[in-house]
Amino acid sequence: MLARKIKKHIYWMGSVDWDSRLFDSLIPLPDGTSYNAYLIEGSEKTVLLDTVNPPMASELMAQLEGVSKIDYIVSQHAEQDHSGTIPQVLEKYPDAKVISTPKAKGMLIDLLQIPEEFFITVKDGEALSLGDKTLKFIYAPWVHWPETMVTYLEEDKILFSCDFFGSHIATTDLYVTDDSRIYEPAKRYFAEIMMPFRSVIKKNLDKLAPYDIDMIAPGHGQIFPRPAFIMDAYRDWILGPLRNTVVLPYVTMHESTQQMVDHLVSALVEKDVRVKKFNLVVTDIGKLAMALVDAATIVVGTPTVLAGPHPYAVNATFLANALRPKTKFLSIIGSYGWGGKTVETLAGMIPNLKVEVIDPVLCKGVPAESAFKALDDLAATIAQKHKEHDFI
Ligand code: FEO
Repeated sequence: MLARKIKKHIYWMGSVDWDSRLFDSLIPLPDGTSYNAYLIEGSEKTVLLDTVNPPMASELMAQLEGVSKIDYIVSQHAEQDHSGTIPQVLEKYPDAKVISTPKAKGMLIDLLQIPEEFFITVKDGEALSLGDKTLKFIYAPWVHWPETMVTYLEEDKILFSCDFFGSHIATTDLYVTDDSRIYEPAKRYFAEIMMPFRSVIKKNLDKLAPYDIDMIAPGHGQIFPRPAFIMDAYRDWILGPLRNTVVLPYVTMHESTQQMVDHLVSALVEKDVRVKKFNLVVTDIGKLAMALVDAATIVVGTPTVLAGPHPYAVNATFLANALRPKTKFLSIIGSYGWGGKTVETLAGMIPNLKVEVIDPVLCKGVPAESAFKALDDLAATIAQKHKEHDFI
C-alpha cells in the first residue's frame, strides 16, 4: 500500500497484514493486524516514527522511495514489530539518528545490534523542534514493555502511541468510523498485553490528561479521530466495575467434567449470573483473555489426568495468572478417576490473582446427585457473592 496523508506533511506509512493469524506465536489475530509507522516532515527536520515488522520491511522501504532525507527515527518501543526495520532504514539514511528512551536504547542495541553512535536519548517531557512542528516525548512505561514512550505532535495535536491504544485489525479504513466495530479488537488487545500493567497504565492515562489530543495514531490498527472513545474504554477496563459474570474455561475427556460444566452453567443462569464458557480444545484464547477483563469470577473445569489438571486447564490458568485480571473469586470443578493433586496444582499457579478461592467441586467418575447438589451450592455461593458486591 502507498503512504497515506493524514494531515499536511504527516503521513501514515507501514503495512496492513491481512494474512497473519498468530502474533508472537501466541496471540490469535482473527482480523489480521497492521504495523503503523508515521512520517512527519517539519520545515527543517523529517522524522520517521517507528518502523514495521521485518517481514513487511519491503513495503515501508517502497513508501520511503521518494523521501530524500530522514533526520530522526523515533523508536517508541523496542519490540521488533515496530523497531525491527530500523537497521534497514538506517542503511538508506546513514546520517539519521535514532531517538529513544535510555532504556529503549539498551534494548535496541541488544535486540537489533544498532551501533551506539546512532542514538540520541530523550528525557521524559523533552521536546524536539522540526522547524514548524514540535514533538514532545512522554514516557509511558509498561505499554507494554518497561521502555515505552509516546510522542505528542503539539501543533497538530496528534498523539502517536505505538502499542498503547492499539488494536489488531487489517483494514483499508485508516480511521475509526464505527466505534462499536473497533471496541472488540481494542479490548482484545488490551486484555492480551496491557491488562497485567493496568495500575501503571492508569498513571499513563492520568499523565496524558492535560494534553489537548485531537487524534490518537497507534502502532497497530486504526487511527482514533475521537480519542475520548478509546481513552474512556481504557479507563473502564482498568477502573470500571466488575461484571456479574463467570468465566468458565474447561476441558473434558470422558464427558463427566462436561456434565458438571453444563449443570453449573444452568444453575448460574437460573440465578441471573452471566456465564462465558470456553471449551479449551477449540477456544480462541484472545476471547478468553477479553472475557477476563471484567468478570467477577473464574471457574476452571478440568478432569484429573496424570494425577493433575489437564494441560489445557494448566495453560488457561497460567494465562489468567499472567494477565492478572481484576477477578475477585475463583473455583475449580471437575472429575477424577482415582485421585491426584488437581486442586493443589491449580491453586499453586495463581499467586498473581487477588482472589478468594471458593470451595472446589470435584467428583469421582461420572457426577452423581451429590455432585450436582454441590454445583448448585457453588452457583448459589457465587450468585450471593456477586450480589453482595453489586456486580452489574
Ligand atoms: Fe506491537 Fe509490543 O509490539
